[in-house]
Amino acid sequence: MKEIFLDLLPYQKKAFLSKKEIILFVGGTGTGKTWLGARWIILKALKNPGEYLLISPSLKLMKRTLWKEVKKVLKEWGIPFEKNEQDMIIKLFNGSMLYGIPADNPDRMEGVHAKGGVYDEAGQVDKKVVFETAYRRLRFHSGQLLITTTPYRWNWLKEVYDKAKLGDENIELITAKTIENPHYPREEIEKAKKEMPEWRFRMFYEGVFTKPLGLIYPDYELVEPFEIPQNWLKVRGLDFGYNHPTAIVWLAKDPNTGTWYAYKEFKKSEVDLDQLYQILSKENIPTYADPEMKQGLETLKRRGLDIRPAKKDVLSGIVFVQGLFKQGKLKIFSNLTNIIDELSSYSWKLDANDQPIDEPVKENDDLMDALRYALFTVEGMNTTRFPYRSVMMDV
Ligand SMILES: Nc1ncnc2c1ncn2[C@@H]1O[C@H](COP(=O)(O)OP(=O)(O)O)[C@@H](O)[C@H]1O
Ligand SMILES: [Mg+2]
Repeated sequence: MKEIFLDLLPYQKKAFLSKKEIILFVGGTGTGKTWLGARWIILKALKNPGEYLLISPSLKLMKRTLWKEVKKVLKEWGIPFEKNEQDMIIKLFNGSMLYGIPADNPDRMEGVHAKGGVYDEAGQVDKKVVFETAYRRLRFHSGQLLITTTPYRWNWLKEVYDKAKLGDENIELITAKTIENPHYPREEIEKAKKEMPEWRFRMFYEGVFTKPLGLIYPDYELVEPFEIPQNWLKVRGLDFGYNHPTAIVWLAKDPNTGTWYAYKEFKKSEVDLDQLYQILSKENIPTYADPEMKQGLETLKRRGLDIRPAKKDVLSGIVFVQGLFKQGKLKIFSNLTNIIDELSSYSWKLDANDQPIDEPVKENDDLMDALRYALFTVEGMNTTRFPYRSVMMDV
């Protein structure tokens, strides 16, 4: 076979040389992530015939980026292949199969024992299960997973990134700023730097995890789950929903330190009152719910639940919960993925100049409401309103 010469940037070379199970390349936009991913996996598939995974956040994105780049490189290198665009399968002349997997359909990976995988722009996908499935499908052949992404939010990716930073020996961490790719136009970077809020620029052009301006609860802290002792006070917060999710947060208070722990969560759409009753009646603990949902409150109360109307003043409630987080008096069990997801995106609305105003974005906030209902009603004093906090944080 003919020789292939690759002109790699130094950080791309690091990915090629790595023998680790997971290669995590967190880089700015235009650092050559897709460029690298396509070539890395094709070379593996040429050397070692077998099954390979090409994963992208969505089918649309896949077709515009990784899938397109793979076909382009195969043609460029003169490698014979057949493709099935319908099923997103590329078959190389040596029998290697490359499967295109959109992250919204990770089940397509089941049954595959892949020898390698690329997960492009993985940080866009908030659910961890796609990463976990890919990793699992690679174990049989001890295959490597190359994750190429910009940071988007503090989701599972940030967890993996933190693990790598702490020295996890199974993860090769590679980082790069857009400016390190000489092929990327300088003036584009300058322009972005002028136009974007700084936190966004740092995230998308420097590959650094920052938090958006106007995050409402920037100070949340996670703890390893533990058994809640019998004598601790337990309460629940409930946000009714049908088309929107119904959300429940379970909280317990350590009587010695006064610290609250969110230890259990529930979030699901299309839950009717009967189903809700089934869930809540497993333990009868005081449950604070949206006072405006009179019918729901009445019905559940009539059926014997200790359900109480919550104090609903949004801003005072938020300020109160912010205070708890800030003082370390409220901690979240690290297995509550839905709460963590909401905490890392729950933000104040921004005005035309990207300045936060004191009104939360009403989006992905169901558990946030439930959390506030419980804590603010049980413990909240007459807190005075105070405005948002703008925050920028590095790791
Ligand atoms: N090693 C390289 N040699 C030549 N061009 C490169 C190299 N790496 C990246 N590029 C080019 O840089 C640009 C950005 O690469 P791309 O993979 O699309 O970046 P990303 O996926 O990180 O946004 C593309 O035009 C790509 O061809
Ligand atoms: Mg790309």
